[in-house]
Amino acid sequence: MKILDGKSLSELIKKEIQSEVASIVASGKKAPHLAAILVGTDGASETYVGSKVKTCGEIGFGSTLIRYDSSVTESELLEKIHEINSNPEIDGLIVQSPLPRHISFEKVTETIHPSKDVDGFHPVNSGRLMQGKPSFVAATPKGIITLLDRYGIETSGKKCVVIGRSNIVGMPMSILMARNSKPGNATVTICHSKTSDLKSYCLEADIIIAALGKPGFLKGDHVKEGAVVVDVGITRVADATKKSGFRLQGDIDFDEVAPKCSWITPVPGGVGPMTIVGLLQNTLMASKKEILF
Ligand code: GUN
Repeated sequence: MKILDGKSLSELIKKEIQSEVASIVASGKKAPHLAAILVGTDGASETYVGSKVKTCGEIGFGSTLIRYDSSVTESELLEKIHEINSNPEIDGLIVQSPLPRHISFEKVTETIHPSKDVDGFHPVNSGRLMQGKPSFVAATPKGIITLLDRYGIETSGKKCVVIGRSNIVGMPMSILMARNSKPGNATVTICHSKTSDLKSYCLEADIIIAALGKPGFLKGDHVKEGAVVVDVGITRVADATKKSGFRLQGDIDFDEVAPKCSWITPVPGGVGPMTIVGLLQNTLMASKKEILF
């Protein structure tokens, strides 16, 4: 069993981006700039947004963090998005989810201009992805594809099971694995909460990507010998031995599954750091206007 080390790969790719940013700035152009909107004080969202903004600083991107109390109205938030859409200093915008119930994430997503939608959630971007056209691809699936690519994992002709069908991970992940590309060209099965006999699909799979958000769900007897297993789960579970009072747990029972795998991602240090890389790559592409809208 070998580890798909997202942490060290992310460090390498961040250095690559950092040197590209340095040459952009040296040529007299402005550095890429990411704006992030955070509504409320959800602990996990605070951590994710904090880490996205901090990483921007480390690699030479500009960043703006806009915070709102959870009582902010939907129209106030949409107005801010319109303002950012027309601000030429800002290349990319993310609005961290989950949002309070009185705000429609769908409306928020559709208000961000597709050319600044570095989360890739706008229907124009997800639709283009489905049609194989240039688009911003959601950061987590993009990061996973980069991880498989840089580790030289063969996906062509393989059987891939994606567990989860969210717009943020499962759906775009399935399309990326199935599309005619490298990595890609896999035969993809999407499993979800209504799948009957999920184990039988997993046991057939050469590659399993688990993104269902149930800690420790995938057990040793779900996985065939030599499979490649990617764990997207990052659930906070109580742990009195940690200073924070919690630890991050993936969707995979690592101790049971790892001995059967050819490759596996750890949690933490697997998909998480690659998600940030996906976002940075999208923001760099947005600043270079690489995709035409
Ligand atoms: N919430 C969970 N994942 C994400 C993400 O990738 N982007 C945003 N904006 N919110 C999220």
